[in-house]
Amino acid sequence: MKNILNTFFTNCAHPQGWMGRMMLKVMNLCHAPLTNWGLSLVDIKDGWTMLDIGCGGGATLQRLLKRSNGGRVYGIDISEESVAKARSMNAKALGKQVFVEQGTAAQLPYENDSFDLVTAVETVYFWPDLPNCLKEVYRVLKPGGCFAIMVEVVDTESMWTSVVEGMTAYAPEQLQSLLDEAGFRQTCIHHKRPSYATIIGTKM
Ligand SMILES: C[S@@+](CC[C@H](N)C(=O)[O-])C[C@H]1O[C@@H](n2cnc3c(N)ncnc32)[C@H](O)[C@@H]1O
Repeated sequence: MKNILNTFFTNCAHPQGWMGRMMLKVMNLCHAPLTNWGLSLVDIKDGWTMLDIGCGGGATLQRLLKRSNGGRVYGIDISEESVAKARSMNAKALGKQVFVEQGTAAQLPYENDSFDLVTAVETVYFWPDLPNCLKEVYRVLKPGGCFAIMVEVVDTESMWTSVVEGMTAYAPEQLQSLLDEAGFRQTCIHHKRPSYATIIGTKM
């Protein structure tokens, strides 16, 4: 039983096959409150170019697009299943205002200084060599652009780290320090119950 549960929940880290597709539907619904709150903390402007890393099933891409008239939204995810779901969720705007591709946070396939905003919802737990990934985010942000990390597992001892293979939980303060080390400025942490945290940093 433990193995089946582990296999199912490990689809959070890398959705695959039918279990992955189920998980993507669940995450699109369940991450809505955290994402809506986290995005409300950013003053998103019309015409912005934005990137959502670990975009999963693509609900955040839709939300970002709604908040920025004339904006363009890019999504990237390591999982083929996530990319397929994010593309179908955003079919109408795909190739016009929404662009989704498969890839990793460790090596972003974008030019320096490309984005006004980068978001990462419930995904940094799975990024290998997080300090290096944060430097990649810094590189692709425009000067003045900001990065918003949204997490709801904030206890480093969380039981989820033993259920989901390859998951590392970070305290918001750890994430803030890592942002500082990667060169971000004006870093801050916002909290909301039950355990939501959004950590924001700006590229100066
Ligand atoms: C828990 S899901 C969250 C998905 C989506 N952000 C949401 O809020 O519903 C984590 C996502 O991060 C992706 N992911 C994991 N490691 C990644 C990496 N190194 N680079 C890009 N995406 C990654 C997974 O494939 C998965 O789709």
